[in-house]
Amino acid sequence: MDAFLRGLPKAELHLHIEGTLEPELAFELAERNGVRLRFATVEELRAAYDFSDLQSFLDLYYEGASVLRTERDFYELTLAYLRRVAADGVRRAEIFFDPQTHTQRGVAFTTVLDGLSRALDDGEAELGISCGLILCFLRDLPAEAALATLEEALPHADRLLGVGLDSAEVGNPPERFAAVFERARAAGLRAVAHAGEEGPPDYIRQALDLLGVERIDHGVRATDDPELLARLVRERVPLTVCPLSNVRLKVFDRLEDHNLPQLLAAGAAVSINSDDPAYFGGYVGENYVATQRALGLSAHDMVRIARSSLEATFTSAAQRQALLAELDAYVAAHDG
Ligand code: HPA
Ligand code: ZN
Repeated sequence: MDAFLRGLPKAELHLHIEGTLEPELAFELAERNGVRLRFATVEELRAAYDFSDLQSFLDLYYEGASVLRTERDFYELTLAYLRRVAADGVRRAEIFFDPQTHTQRGVAFTTVLDGLSRALDDGEAELGISCGLILCFLRDLPAEAALATLEEALPHADRLLGVGLDSAEVGNPPERFAAVFERARAAGLRAVAHAGEEGPPDYIRQALDLLGVERIDHGVRATDDPELLARLVRERVPLTVCPLSNVRLKVFDRLEDHNLPQLLAAGAAVSINSDDPAYFGGYVGENYVATQRALGLSAHDMVRIARSSLEATFTSAAQRQALLAELDAYVAAHDG
């Protein structure tokens, strides 16, 4: 089963590139760039990955990101991620990045974007993984800052798939970003948002109705609101679920308690993703393997999850059909 799950052709739709920074690379970049970390060794840093909630993680995540300074840093980070997940059957990656985390420290937007895009080009050529970028706004900063970031990004919109919304959720409702998302969508960008990770189901509703998003990142709190869950199923809104992240950030106590089976039973379009794999104990392959095992999901369930990931991609219809055909061929080859 494990090898079958790793090989399943899949898309990763919920992955923060800054969350792929492994401690070893963090120390290497800190040294190269003359940045000081609070930790003396890789082991000490890894030992700090014991989170009580989203905020406790974000504090370390933003500190880690401070070692990223040059175009080459962003390039190396991203290419390392793509090489890692090529072995996990990832055929398409739609990657989040947080420009404000970097521009606030004086790193130019184009330094970030140039490094990321060059890695995606080289990764596509080397590994055959189709890639795209989604610019996330930090929701704990003012909407004006998000709008300024969007204006800076729009001249480069040809290198972006869309926009998203991340960082500290509770107390930072989607509604504050309605105008920013309207402007982004008017410019032809697709829209997603984190909602219903720690925040209430109403944030999911706001993301749909006020931001016009096409996918919900996390969305697990939808099971608290049967009417909303029915709507997500009816409107086939993809939910990009991140099981190992949810356990590490105490959204669920144990993987065995995750509500993914409930979401599947309701008919929701769930995919499995890694969120911030360097911090949460596993890339997308480990998320598939650990979740299947802990929840006793069937091979049929797992194929359905991989299919949902491919169906939810922001690609051309032709490319989506080709990816789905790859999945069908894989399943046919492994049947019986
Ligand atoms: N939630 C919100 N913001 C984030 C996350 C997350 O899981 N990962 C990186 N930024
Ligand atoms: Zn996330």
